[in-house]
Amino acid sequence: MRKDIEKLISEMTLEEKAGLCSGIDSWHTMPVNRLQIPSIMMTDGPHGVRKERDDTEKGLLSTPSYPATCFPTASALACSWDTELMRKLGETLGDECLASGVSILLGPGVNIKRSPLCGRNFEYYSEDPFLAGKLAAGLINGVQSKGVGTSLKHFAANNQETQRLTTDTIVDERTLREIYLTNFEIPVKEARPWTVMCAYNKLNGEYCSENKRLLTDILRGEWGFDGFVMSDWGAVNERDDGVLAGLDLEMPSGGEDSLNKIVAAVKSGKLPESTLDAAVGHILEKVFEGTENIRKNAAYDKQEHHELARSIAGECMVLLKNDGVLPLERKGTLAVIGAFAEKPRFQGGGSSHITPTVLSIPLDEIKKSAGGGVTVTYCEGYRLDEEQADDFGTGFESLSDIPDEKLIAEAAEAAAKADKTVVFLGLPDIFESEGYDRTHMRLPLGQLELLDAVAKKSKNIVVVLMNGSPVEMPWLESVNGVLEAYLGGQAVGGAVADILFGDVNPSGKLAETFPMKISDNPSYLYFPGMRNKAEYREGIFIGYRYYEKKQIAPLFPFGFGLSYTTFAYTGIETDCNEIDDDGAVTVKVTVKNTGRVAGKETVQVYVRDVLSTVPRPEKELKGFTKVSLEPGEEKTVSFALGKRAFAFWDEETNDWQVEAGEFEILAGGSSAETPLRKTVIVNSSYVKKVHFTRNSTIGDVLADTVGYGILAEIAGEELIKSLPPFVLQLPLRSIHMHMPEMNDEAIAGLTDVLNS
Ligand code: GLC
Repeated sequence: MRKDIEKLISEMTLEEKAGLCSGIDSWHTMPVNRLQIPSIMMTDGPHGVRKERDDTEKGLLSTPSYPATCFPTASALACSWDTELMRKLGETLGDECLASGVSILLGPGVNIKRSPLCGRNFEYYSEDPFLAGKLAAGLINGVQSKGVGTSLKHFAANNQETQRLTTDTIVDERTLREIYLTNFEIPVKEARPWTVMCAYNKLNGEYCSENKRLLTDILRGEWGFDGFVMSDWGAVNERDDGVLAGLDLEMPSGGEDSLNKIVAAVKSGKLPESTLDAAVGHILEKVFEGTENIRKNAAYDKQEHHELARSIAGECMVLLKNDGVLPLERKGTLAVIGAFAEKPRFQGGGSSHITPTVLSIPLDEIKKSAGGGVTVTYCEGYRLDEEQADDFGTGFESLSDIPDEKLIAEAAEAAAKADKTVVFLGLPDIFESEGYDRTHMRLPLGQLELLDAVAKKSKNIVVVLMNGSPVEMPWLESVNGVLEAYLGGQAVGGAVADILFGDVNPSGKLAETFPMKISDNPSYLYFPGMRNKAEYREGIFIGYRYYEKKQIAPLFPFGFGLSYTTFAYTGIETDCNEIDDDGAVTVKVTVKNTGRVAGKETVQVYVRDVLSTVPRPEKELKGFTKVSLEPGEEKTVSFALGKRAFAFWDEETNDWQVEAGEFEILAGGSSAETPLRKTVIVNSSYVKKVHFTRNSTIGDVLADTVGYGILAEIAGEELIKSLPPFVLQLPLRSIHMHMPEMNDEAIAGLTDVLNS
């Protein structure tokens, strides 16, 4: 089936080529029947196959999609810290795509969580680009191992929903590279996604959909991307500029206007036909590959996938607090409170919204798991909204925000009579979704008043949270346990029951910081920006990079998560103590299960530059792995740290550089708990390039070995060593005040020598 694409392109008319650079509708590429060029289908993503029914003429999200397994959303999946789990999930999604005739799954979404208020954070992984990139690579490798493509999205720096199609992300180059591109770079290099989806927003003044530096120079030129770039739905500004910049496919169909713009641009010479041919070639490669891989009558076992969704959710949930109230015993009376126990929030609103094949209800699963020895009571506690937010939500106030005194009184009464109480809380659909951002980090008022009333009646309370992004917890001290279920997918009920009764030992770790309050977050003053500009003034200091640097205690730190067992970090070693920056150091970390039950621990490795001339975070995540340990078992895991583990983006050389010196390698089970440390020396060829002028300071010159020698020669080493700080900051042009012989001619001679 795969034809000689070059030959095929040579047979296509200009109009056919221009037409192929746009979808034929919302979900299919353009066929060219005259030349037997087929069309392939793509659908969302990222945590389930959202294949719309065929009456899509009513619009993007008008009709419920065909049933498919709804897995936990990205913010939950990220807490697994398990790239193998992501690969397994990808394989499963690939199978469901094959069964649906879908050739490209539109995901994963890897955008960085700059603010907890981004409405779409449920669909993204982390505040850390290394973790986000590695998890995305796992998912992509899984899906594509089945011959189904993916679409790494949204490229790039799309970190809010407010004015997402028009806002201009203003970010400095170092921050862009270190924080907002690394999460794309890693999966592009390690998983080779079939496609990348450009973002809606502008980046430093230019729409991503026509940003050549982004889509061609960096993505293809630097990273070697070899698939095709598609637009987000409706992200195209000027179609001909897009093709010029490297945007191969417009989605959905751009119609006659787009076709005519491309044709006119080629005819006018604005758009070289070779560039158009390259775009057509990128698309055809994947159209034929996707077509070749279509499996007639492919099917999958819905129950098997549902059970996988349950075990995956069990790997993701994060135990945030446990004073011993968990795991629950299978005896006595258990009060289950909160409407989410009956109608769980298990996914988010917008394009990722799935019609699940089945939905496991927490209350039912708790009753099933508890068995006959437990009396389970249930109270609604608060009301839920009738509307769903899968149509991008509307501005109505949530019923959960209105305390219902009757429901609260009933719930408090039930809690008073029970041995233990489980309260299901979280964010209603309308609080967060694709399409709009959150305005605060609070739980709904009705839920807060419910919990307050229950806490007055019960001393054994477990809160189960169902939210796509962090919430403030002023009530934390008044409860005994907190399980963060995030948006746990269709099997959330079973997974919650498994953890509550100890059939699964929780092993999730937070992939984002939970700040005490939203005003602690570094983007708080500038989010979501104004007049269509979002200025990333906090630079690289986002998430734990910020809270640690500023020493602001978070509610729960990045990488944190409890277990029903305990772990000790018993050893760290490196295969050498000194490397060159083009080499690598292998770090071995030993961890032991010091508790009484089996469990899984995510070993995290961070790197700190002990002394640097540029501002750097206290430490940065550069390695992680999840290990299973029986009680008493000890395992050693190893990590290879290469140049990028030590490097920063240097804007002068426009490249990754390592400043020679001491680096500390830290290991532990959380960004806030790194008991193991080891120092290594990294030698580097990098020298901060300084161009000397008459305005270079005396301190600059003395920091240069040649410069030091010359000035010591002229003024004597004693004087040089005794110069007070204010003199060191003097520009050379004023040095004659202390060294009369250093006139303009002498200064010019000095800078010439230094610059040569
Ligand atoms: C949406 C989303 C994108 C999705 C696409 C198709 O607006 O931004 O993630 O894949 O359109 O639904």
